Amino acid sequence: GTDRPLAGRRALVTSGPTYEPIDPVRYIANRSSGKQGHAIAAALARLGAHVTLVSGPTREPTPPGVTLVPIETAVEMLAACRAALPADVAVCAAAVADWRVAEAAGQKVKKTGGAPPTLSLIENPDILATLSAAGPDRPRLVVGFAAETENVVAHATEKRRRKGCDWILANDVAPETGTFGGDANTIHLIDAAGVEHWPTSTKLAVAERLARRIDAYFGEGKA
Ligand code: C5P
Repeated sequence: GTDRPLAGRRALVTSGPTYEPIDPVRYIANRSSGKQGHAIAAALARLGAHVTLVSGPTREPTPPGVTLVPIETAVEMLAACRAALPADVAVCAAAVADWRVAEAAGQKVKKTGGAPPTLSLIENPDILATLSAAGPDRPRLVVGFAAETENVVAHATEKRRRKGCDWILANDVAPETGTFGGDANTIHLIDAAGVEHWPTSTKLAVAERLARRIDAYFGEGKA
């Protein structure tokens, strides 16, 4: 019915951080609460979409009706995303570590009293860019986030081009905004047509608005 307008649509959402192992007991990670990504998965599911949520470790409960695929590393996240295709829409809200340790140690690295160990890093796959370039498997709508501390719209517009995604939701994460780990978010949505400035609201309201806009996007094609 009209209360579940995304029924029959498949959505893929990434959320949370990735954990990149240094050794069996240590890892590198980004700060990410998973609040925004999990809220988006929940909002899409409430509108009736079949939602696969590929997430790193968070304290957030799995939203009702959502299939969680828990992962730790960026490489695992990419594999899980590929396995979740085909999808009508992909929303990449995860804070993926840009690098991983080239060769994680099989055993705990010990303090030897000598020089501290050096980590050699290699680049992780970019999941948003990979999904955007997935050829025939590409979701019809690919949405990414851009956390910026200055020139928010200009940087996000450039990021949209570089990643090849359809929409970028840019948010201002300058330290004084309290966005990280907090509940509020100020979004500027960049698409092919230009920029839309959303009023500052909660991450839950941002998720709801995004889900409605995704529905409207598919609705245009349905007519
Ligand atoms: O390049 P940057 O990390 O600023 O881009 C942010 C966007 O790209 C977010 O949507 C994030 O989920 C996505 N991303 C990704 N894989 C990466 C890095 C970022 O999907 N390795």
